[in-house]
Amino acid sequence: MTLLAIETSCDETSVAVVRDGKILSNSVSSQIQIHAEYGGVVPELAAREHLRNLLPVTQAALQAAQVQPDQLDAVAATQGPGLPTALLVGFKAAQAIAFALRKPFLGIHHHEAHLFSPWIRNAEHHLGAEETDQTGRDGARRSGFATADFSSFQPNVSLIVSGGHTLLVLVESELKHRVLGSTTDDAAGECFDKTGKLMGLPYPAGPEMDRLSESGNPKAFDFPRPLLNDASNDFSFSGLKTAVRYFVRDHPDSLKEVQSVRDLCASIQAAIVEVLVTKTLRAAKRNGVRCVTASGGVTCNRALRRELTRACEKAGLTLRLAEKALCTDNAAMIGILAERKLLAGVKPASFDEEIKPGWILD
Ligand code: KG4
Ligand code: ZN
Repeated sequence: MTLLAIETSCDETSVAVVRDGKILSNSVSSQIQIHAEYGGVVPELAAREHLRNLLPVTQAALQAAQVQPDQLDAVAATQGPGLPTALLVGFKAAQAIAFALRKPFLGIHHHEAHLFSPWIRNAEHHLGAEETDQTGRDGARRSGFATADFSSFQPNVSLIVSGGHTLLVLVESELKHRVLGSTTDDAAGECFDKTGKLMGLPYPAGPEMDRLSESGNPKAFDFPRPLLNDASNDFSFSGLKTAVRYFVRDHPDSLKEVQSVRDLCASIQAAIVEVLVTKTLRAAKRNGVRCVTASGGVTCNRALRRELTRACEKAGLTLRLAEKALCTDNAAMIGILAERKLLAGVKPASFDEEIKPGWILD
């Protein structure tokens, strides 16, 4: 089956072509630079950029995959959750393409698709994000394909951590899952971005905090680990943000020294990572699964990857981290899930279905 998938839930316009579990192409046009000026994603600007980029990115994806529109068997798009105006662009375009080609269409839950990205292998090698430029052209893709490998699938607890969401999900089988917990306020990525902003770092601050932390002392400052010992699988990061706000207000000198900024970043990062790792492993243990998976933009974080690896090794659990190229939002994961659903007999959606911006994963 050859499938075209579109993802426009936030600030990445992404289009992928997937065939039989292989990702033939995954073109991404990121809007980070546009939103950086405003310190966060501006929904109207996101929608305008999606409108501007969707056709060239779609053409680039088809071209990189060497697939003609009439060779497509199905079309899929993210239906929710996400920014309404952003979702609308990709979802309605995908429905229009499917209608014009008289092919089935499927609306996909963005978080359910994240659950699939850890099972995609060789993405780094064949579709590294750095190879896709701002206009969505796929760079020199090396021969071979990133492929979804479900042969080694095992029930798992999956951590989805991004700028908008922090979720723990029990994945019992490929298409059966149950949300165990989520954040009651800020997402983990939001906590990186907002505390970084308090230190004067540009948006999004997460990657820069990761970089600065590498030469910082994570024990230099003791920040709270919210809900660490709470019995629930929920998270809360706004208290940590407030603690950093007061610390910076009361210790303005801490921002003057480069080393002390590095120590601050490392200490904040350590608090976020400890909460994420401890709660994920606890949920795996409680639910009796032998496998942990993780995806979403924050899964790019080196300390999180290291600590999850260490903790899973210690507990004898298998760990599948989404490869960095597929941690952030991408259409490949939308396409892989849509193909699995269609093959499993899930009925295509009607062409007058609407976006679901507040769609909550069950
Ligand atoms: O999944 P994503 O691209 O978009 C959504 O929010 O849906 O995630 C973006 C988030 C931002 O908050 C960004 O700061 C964070 O992921 N992020 C990181 C790193 N790379 C991206 N946070 C910490 N360390 C990183 N290396
Ligand atoms: Zn996402």
